[in-house]
Amino acid sequence: MAGPKSPLQSSPSGPLSGVAVVPGDKSISHRALILGALAVGETRITGLLESDDVLATAAALRALGAQVRREDDGDWRIFGCGVGGLSEPSGVLDMGNSGTAVRLLMGVSATLSFNTTFCGDASLSKRPMERVMTPLRQMGAQFTARDGGRLPITVSGARAPIPITYALPVASAQVKTAILLAGLNTPGLTTVIEPEPTRDHSERMLGHFGAEVTVEDTADGGRRITLSGQPELTGHGVTVPGDFSSAAFPMVAALLAPRSRVTLTTVGINPLRTGLLETLLEMGASIGVENRRTLGGEAVADLVIESSSLKGITVPGARAPSMIDEYPVLAVAAAFADGETRLEGLAELRVKESDRLAAMARGLAQAGVDVTETEDSLTIRGGASKPRGGVHIEADLDHRIAMAFLVLGAATQQPISIDDAATMDSSFPGFAALMNGLGANIAPGNGA
Ligand code: S3P
Repeated sequence: MAGPKSPLQSSPSGPLSGVAVVPGDKSISHRALILGALAVGETRITGLLESDDVLATAAALRALGAQVRREDDGDWRIFGCGVGGLSEPSGVLDMGNSGTAVRLLMGVSATLSFNTTFCGDASLSKRPMERVMTPLRQMGAQFTARDGGRLPITVSGARAPIPITYALPVASAQVKTAILLAGLNTPGLTTVIEPEPTRDHSERMLGHFGAEVTVEDTADGGRRITLSGQPELTGHGVTVPGDFSSAAFPMVAALLAPRSRVTLTTVGINPLRTGLLETLLEMGASIGVENRRTLGGEAVADLVIESSSLKGITVPGARAPSMIDEYPVLAVAAAFADGETRLEGLAELRVKESDRLAAMARGLAQAGVDVTETEDSLTIRGGASKPRGGVHIEADLDHRIAMAFLVLGAATQQPISIDDAATMDSSFPGFAALMNGLGANIAPGNGA
C-alpha cells in the first residue's frame, strides 16, 4: 500500500546555474534488463535508471527466473535464461505505474507457454492494453482481462507461436517492442510496420545482443522492422545515457529563469527522442548541443541552456512521436512564450499515466494561463504577463504532470504545489534535489 502523501511546493527561483547529470534513460533501462534476461551469459548495465518503473521490471524478471542484481559499484548484473528460457512466476507481477514495463513484458510472456498475471497501480489499471493484446493474440497468445482490456491481465502464452506482419494503428514504441519481444521466441520473421518512426532503442539493442533486425523506410514516411525469430542472444555490456525526457524539466526551467546557464551532461540525443529540442530552438531557445559522442550505441551530448525569450509557434502532430513525453513541460514553456503556441496531434496524451491534455489545460488555466483544449490539441497564449501561479495540483499518479507544475512554480508570481513527491520516483528519483542544486526552491509543503 502507498504511504501517506508528501506534498511539495515550488517557489519562484532566481537564476539557475551549474552542471547536472540527469538519471539514466528509462526506455533504455527497461530494454537492457529485459534483453539481459533473455540472453545467455552475463549482461552488465552501467547507469541503469533506478526508478520505481525500472525496478518493477527488474523484480518481474527475477520472478520469471532471471538472476538480476545490483552490484556494490552501482552496476547491475544479469544472468539471463536465454530466449524462451524464462519460467512461470509463482505470484502476480506488480508493474506499479509503468506502462512500458507491463506492455513490454506482456510481449515477452505472449510466446512463453505458461500463464503470467500482471497488475498495476490505480493509474496503470485505467490504461488501455488492447493495443498490445490485438497483435499478440494473432501470434497465438490468449488473455483474460478486466472490462475494456484493463489490468489485471493474465497472459496464456502461445505454445506454438505464429510470426506476424503487423501495421501499428498508432505510432507506439511500446507496442512495436512488445511484438518484437514476442517475435524473439517465434520461428520465422516477425514484422512491424509503424506509420511514423518511433524511438528505436529496441531495434538498436536487439542488434547489439546478436539478433538479426532489419529496418527499412516505407514509401509513406514510416518504417518496416523485421526480426528473425529464435536467435541466440548473448549477454552484453550496456551503458545507459541520461534521459532526454528527464533533462527536459531542468532545460525548460533554465530557459524561463532569468540570467540562467545550466549544463546537462551526457544526455541521450537519439533523433527519435529530441523533438522538444527542435521545438524549443524554433521558439528561440538558446540550447547548445556540445561534445557529441556515442555511448553504448546511442548518440549523447552535453546540453548548455541559457535563459531565453521564447516566441509561440505551431508544433505539428507529425512531431509528436519524437516528443510524446515532453508536452507537459513544453506547455509550461509556452505559457511564457510571446504569442500563441499551438500543439497538435495530441490524442495519445489522453492515455498516458493520466489524461495529460486535460491535466495541463486545467492546471495552466488555474494558474492564470490563457489556454484552449480540444480533443487532440492545446493552444496556449502566453507572454502578456507572468502567469500568477498560486495553485495546488493533484498530479493523479503522473510523474511528468508533477514535474511540469514544479517547473511552472519556479517561474510564476506565486508558488505552485503538487500533492505527492513520491510519484516522481517513477522516472526521476532525486528531481527536487537536482533542481535545488541548480538554484530552484522546491521544498516539502503545500502552501496551506
Ligand atoms: C516508451 C514509449 C512511449 C512513451 C513512454 C516510453 C517506450 O509510449 O510515452 O514513456 O519506452 O517505449 P508509447 O509507446 O505508448 O507512445
